[in-house]
Amino acid sequence: MSDSIILGIESSCDDTSAAIIKGNSILSNIAANQEIHKEYGGVVPELASRAHQQNIIPVVEKSLTKANIQQNAISAIGFTRGPGLLGSLLVGTSFAKSLAMSLDVPLIEVNHLQAHILAHFIDDANPVPPKFPFLCLTVSGGHTMIVLVKDYFDMEIIGKTTDDAAGEAFDKIGKIFDLDYPAGPIIDRLAKEGNPDAFKFNKPRLENYDYSFSGIKTSVLYFIQKEVKKNPDFIKENMNDLCASVQKCIIEILMNKLEKAAKDLNIKEVAIAGGVSANSALRKVMQDNHERLGWNIYIPKFEYTTDNAAMIAMVAQLKFERGEFTDLRTTATSKYDL
Ligand code: KG4
Ligand code: ZN
Repeated sequence: MSDSIILGIESSCDDTSAAIIKGNSILSNIAANQEIHKEYGGVVPELASRAHQQNIIPVVEKSLTKANIQQNAISAIGFTRGPGLLGSLLVGTSFAKSLAMSLDVPLIEVNHLQAHILAHFIDDANPVPPKFPFLCLTVSGGHTMIVLVKDYFDMEIIGKTTDDAAGEAFDKIGKIFDLDYPAGPIIDRLAKEGNPDAFKFNKPRLENYDYSFSGIKTSVLYFIQKEVKKNPDFIKENMNDLCASVQKCIIEILMNKLEKAAKDLNIKEVAIAGGVSANSALRKVMQDNHERLGWNIYIPKFEYTTDNAAMIAMVAQLKFERGEFTDLRTTATSKYDL
């Protein structure tokens, strides 16, 4: 890998992030999270876009200072072109275009989902990176899919959600429990003190490797409505057990299909990526599968799970080596196939 220095910019949802990569070493990875969405129980696109505008310059400046890099040492600028919220993507895209133009360096577009997966190739992400072909369960607030990764830029989605994403299921069920947004990390924390077998919820029966999470959400909602009628304090009194049971159910749904795909395709290189891969119980099940099924597992470092610019810089570095540059007339896109 070349030693080029690349600035990566991520603004697809509610995190404004900038990172500097040299070769495949991350020198800085700065993020400004947007607290504003908490009071609305979810990301408000218009507010996200405005917050990106406020955050982008300080975040980029911090990433340069932390990396001890001058602007004129940058060889190229990588940015998230999509998928994501259009108003959010536009801020990062416009900023990246303007800076590339003023520094007269190449611009490199990055697919956010590819970046979640390719973050496994950052030098401190894994002691040894995954070997092709590998399977990557990509689970975030917006996506849930099993990807067959044949090469860096040769990926095939072999299963995906037909409705909600896994992170969305955590967040929406958390809302039923009156937890703050995003509820995923809170459920993870509370579940540690709960009994995962306390309650049972419906699991979908889908063919092939596809997922569905709207059923468990409805099943939790009806169950809670029924119990709260009998005891208004039901949620409060059972919060930890509820979180542990919901988490167990979501992870079982995710892992059943992943295990089936690994078996059918006879692949033992298995990775996870995306915000939900921060979940401690999911990480533990992957560890168990390493022992039980002989999988070589790849679990991202915590800072590379949720949205971050390090993964964008990583993909930009790979494309830079290939000379894959983007025209300055490019535009952000909310949908962007793998
Ligand atoms: O990848 P990401 O940062 O943003 C998207 O591209 O969507 O993922 C955010 C999602 C949210 O739904 C959040 O609740 C979930 O990841 N999440 C978790 C955990 N940390 C983040 N879900 C379960 N357990 C966690 N520890
Ligand atoms: Zn993401």
